[in-house]
Amino acid sequence: MQLPTILALVASSAWLTTATPSIEAVDRRAASLIKTSPEDLGTWVTEEEKLSLTAQGKHFIDITDIQDPAVLALLSTPDSEEVSLVARAVTYPTSATRQSTANPLLAQVSTSQPQSWMQTLCNFHNRYYRGVNGTAAGTWLFNTATSIAAANSAITVSKFTHSFNQPSIIVKIPGTSPSLVIVGAHYDSTGGSATARAPGADDDGSGVVVLLEALRVLANAGYAPKNTLEFHFYGGEEGGLLGSAGVFSNYKSAGKTVLAMLNQDMAGYSPGGKITVYTDYVDSSLTAYAKIVATAYTGTTATSSCGYGCSDHASARSNGFPAAYFGDEPIGTSSPYIHSAQDAYSTIQWPTILRHSKFVLAFLVEASFI
Ligand SMILES: *[C@@H]1O[C@H](CO)[C@@H](O)[C@H](O)[C@H]1NC(C)=O
Ligand SMILES: [Zn+2]
Repeated sequence: MQLPTILALVASSAWLTTATPSIEAVDRRAASLIKTSPEDLGTWVTEEEKLSLTAQGKHFIDITDIQDPAVLALLSTPDSEEVSLVARAVTYPTSATRQSTANPLLAQVSTSQPQSWMQTLCNFHNRYYRGVNGTAAGTWLFNTATSIAAANSAITVSKFTHSFNQPSIIVKIPGTSPSLVIVGAHYDSTGGSATARAPGADDDGSGVVVLLEALRVLANAGYAPKNTLEFHFYGGEEGGLLGSAGVFSNYKSAGKTVLAMLNQDMAGYSPGGKITVYTDYVDSSLTAYAKIVATAYTGTTATSSCGYGCSDHASARSNGFPAAYFGDEPIGTSSPYIHSAQDAYSTIQWPTILRHSKFVLAFLVEASFI
């Protein structure tokens, strides 16, 4: 363990005992404790304040239910202090070596089903994680994943429930090894209020359909991996990474081995036409490996960073798992429509969905052999 990490742990436990924000000032049932940076000790906000922060494009992590001191310490550690708590460090390959297996599968990828799934996702008035339509979207997604997975009886689909009424959905292709390779996307959406229209096409219907398409191809092929492959569809991301926090806290407690978590949040709008490697709050070794895979299968990549708590990879990372985030476009030129009624089906660029579907499928095949 490096010195800065020890200091961060000390600082964090001091914060836990002495600097708990004044709970008496707010109604806890209506409030959430959020962090907007490693240094932020936490602020109690109402649900409306959370929605308004998201509408302003501000990122935060809801830590109300996070009890694990090690997770809280990591959430208080600046990204500049490289978190190598992956003491069980994974050694990733230095090249893409499974093209003969992956390429015939990539040839099966199409935008036909993704277009249909995207239409349904956008037809929900919104997919707000605490609303009836967000729950209905979860039911549709569970049924859709179950129907895709029916092509291979080895695949399981399950609901991972949370304190809010929108489960995360986990699809598993069992391998001969229980070590996990995970791809994730969130399926909730936000439009600035609990009732606002929020089609959430790029954010993150795009990640959802990309994962479903990769699943469809692998299921139809009867793909039998060495490492276990999981597809995670998180609820409550826009509420402060809630679904992924619950899932990865559970995986940490259960002692699961995660070789890789690759996040897909926004995968359908790319004026630059390149997959974008996000480099902050991620595992640098996994990111380097995933970049090798992206380059081998889709060509040159772009680079960007998105700040604290920007998406679900942060939950994997704070629970000590190697995480990477590859999006559709550098942050400055990414979709201007997200978190509004304008994040619509019509803004989706299907070549971008195709590129990400191939990337995710190639990553799953390559990493299934690590
Ligand atoms: C749920 O969707 C319906 C339309 O399908 C809409 O009228 C209603 O306002 C939505 N509810 C919320 C809480 O967003
Ligand atoms: Zn998102």
